[in-house]
This record gives sequence, C-alpha cells and structure tokens, in this order.
Amino acid sequence: MTTKLALALLFGGRSSEHSVSVATAGGVLGALDPEKYDIVPVGITRDGGYVLGSTDPADYFMGEGRMPEVRDDGSRVEWPRDARSHALTVTSASGEVREVRIDVVFPILHGLWGEDGTVQGLLELVDLPAVGSGVLASALGMDKHFMKVVFTQAGLPVAPWATVSRREWADDPASVHAAASALGYPVFVKPARAGSSVGVAKATDASGLAAAMETALAEDVKVLIEPAVVGREIEIAVLGGAGGAKPRASVAGEIVLTGREFYDFEGKYLGGDGVELQCPAVLSGAELAEMQDLAVRAFEAIGAAGLSRVDFFLTEAGWVINEINTMPGFTPISMYPKCWEASGLPYPALIDELVALALDARD
Ligand SMILES: Nc1ncnc2c1ncn2[C@@H]1O[C@H](COP(=O)(O)OP(=O)(O)O)[C@@H](O)[C@H]1O
Ligand SMILES: [Mg+2]
Repeated sequence: MTTKLALALLFGGRSSEHSVSVATAGGVLGALDPEKYDIVPVGITRDGGYVLGSTDPADYFMGEGRMPEVRDDGSRVEWPRDARSHALTVTSASGEVREVRIDVVFPILHGLWGEDGTVQGLLELVDLPAVGSGVLASALGMDKHFMKVVFTQAGLPVAPWATVSRREWADDPASVHAAASALGYPVFVKPARAGSSVGVAKATDASGLAAAMETALAEDVKVLIEPAVVGREIEIAVLGGAGGAKPRASVAGEIVLTGREFYDFEGKYLGGDGVELQCPAVLSGAELAEMQDLAVRAFEAIGAAGLSRVDFFLTEAGWVINEINTMPGFTPISMYPKCWEASGLPYPALIDELVALALDARD
C-alpha cells in the first residue's frame, strides 16, 4: 500500500485576485485524486487570516456576477512552529486543536502576498516544499518593471516601456506626457504589480493619459506605460523539467477577441462576451518552435520553477513577450491547463506532475 501525500492547498489571500484564486482552488480540489492525496484546504481571508477551507465545491464557484470568497468562520491554521515539525496547527471553529503533518503545499495564489515571493519565503522558512517558483522568480514575475529588465538583459523581445512612480506623476506630469508621446499613442498604462488586468487601461491620446494613470496608480505606486502592441495575443505553458532537465513548453493557445477592446477582467473570468480561448493556436511549425524556445528562455531568465505561463504578442515583426505569470490561472478551463491538455497531459496528471516537481526540487 502506498501512503498518501498530505497536501495543503493555499488559496484566497489579500490581493485583488482573491476570488480568482478561490475559483482556481475549486478546480484543483475537484481534480486531486483522494486515493493519492490527503487534502487540507487552507483559505486565506482578505485580511490575511488563515482558516480551514470549505469542502463544498459550490463555495468555490465563480461566474455571472458571483465572486467566491474565503470567509472567516473562526477556525485557524497556524504554520509549523519550527523548520523540523512540518506540521500545521489547526483549530476548528468549535475550538478543537490538532496537528496536521504536511508533505507539500500547493499555493494557488495570484498577485501580491502570494504570487510575489512573500508566501514562498514563509514556506521556505518553515521548510515546507511548495509547488511553483521560489522567492526570487516569484518576485520578478510579479513586478512588470523588473521582469522586463531581466528579459531585456537575457536578449528576449519585449515592448518598449517607461516606468513611472506616483511621486513622478504628481511632481512632473509634463515629463510623463512626454514619455507617453515618445512611446507613441495609443498606449497601455498598467500597474507594475497587479494581475488579471486589474488597473490596466488604454489611452488613445494625451487627454486619456491622466485617467489611465489614475486607474493604474490606484493599484500600485509604480506603473508602466507601453505602446499598444498590434498583433495576436498568444500564450504558452511551461512546465519545469524533472531532475534538473530542461523545462518543457506546451502547444500555444490564442486569445481571440471579438468585440472587446482588450483582454480585461470581465473577459477573463466573468464569462463576458467577446473572448475565446483557442488551443492549439494556428501557427506554423517555425513560429511555434521559436515561441517555445523563447518561453523556455523566459522561464529560465527569471529562474522559475514548476510552472509558468508566458504571454506573447505575435506582431508583423515577430514575437514580443508581454509577461510571465508564475502562478497562472489554473481552473480546468484556464489557458495553462488547456495548453497541456492539448499537448497530451490531462489536468489531474498535470497536478501530479507539479507536486512531483515540488518534491523533486528538494532531493
Ligand atoms: N502593450 C500592450 N499592447 C496591447 N495590449 C496590451 C498591452 N499591454 C497589455 N495589453 C492588454 O491588456 C491585458 C492585460 O495586461 P497584462 O500586461 O497582461 O497584465 P495582467 O498582469 O493584468 O494580465 C493583456 O492581456 C492585453 O490584452
Ligand atoms: Mg496578462
């Protein structure tokens, strides 16, 4: 008889992508094989409290105006008291206390305080293996400015950009206007550290720039201005290599926009019309091979582990990398799992593989 793996599924969190994370956790919970895993769902409330997560799939459903949420039911989950115990202290809502040994953590967290290296650091401190990237790669993947600095250094193609702080915008808006004009309208303005298109706005001319800056600066004190890239929006999934082998890239998936200005929050998660995910994307063999090579190089450039989705534009001049996501959307119908499904790796097997990679990284 094989022993089951004790897996803590971490979801929710303090970021603006709280509900997306809860929805993803629902997908993973539904796919984890109970014969293989003892699952401990650990929800993080919007206040950053750790609670025992619900076991009712309905609590995780997102769509048509419903945004799932981790609610504080009075239970508490505490991290191991030292780096040897590998045990969570779980206090139920009714006050019973028990210790739960954990083999591996799957942090399904998007955005700040989850995908940015903070939780990864916490897990390293208490010596719990975790699915996905470590501190540095997570932090780089979260910060669009430093991500682009690293990609540029690695010789990877990115759109030109200007990074502007809230202080610079307040003190010297004329310079920011000049930078946007130099990049060329229309421009996209986006928070450096957000996700799910939260705070992303398009400005077609100088008069629209102020509003776009305010939208983006509401999410972060640092924003990026980029020229609007004209091209197809195509994404690809990268999976770490086992035992130090080269990372693997899937087939590509395309975001086909029909009647939506860009791939915004509603189009991504709320079943808004005008977005279709087409996987595999129609590409020539040479185009796909080049994309796969660039994606693996991007993964390695930030030192990613486990998984990442690398998002591109295919322009007339070739591939441009938009961003890397170290914890991409991971519901069964999200692009990352869809790309692997289309590459011959079904969702439950993908999860097994990610868990194996997390444990493998420790050997
Ligand atoms: N420079 C750009 N040119 C064209 N479209 C863009 C650009 N930057 C962002 N977008 C659009 O906005 C969406 C969200 O921006 P993105 O940089 O991917 O941020 P997020 O981390 O929120 O996903 C993209 O999927 C794309 O549709
Ligand atoms: Mg994106």
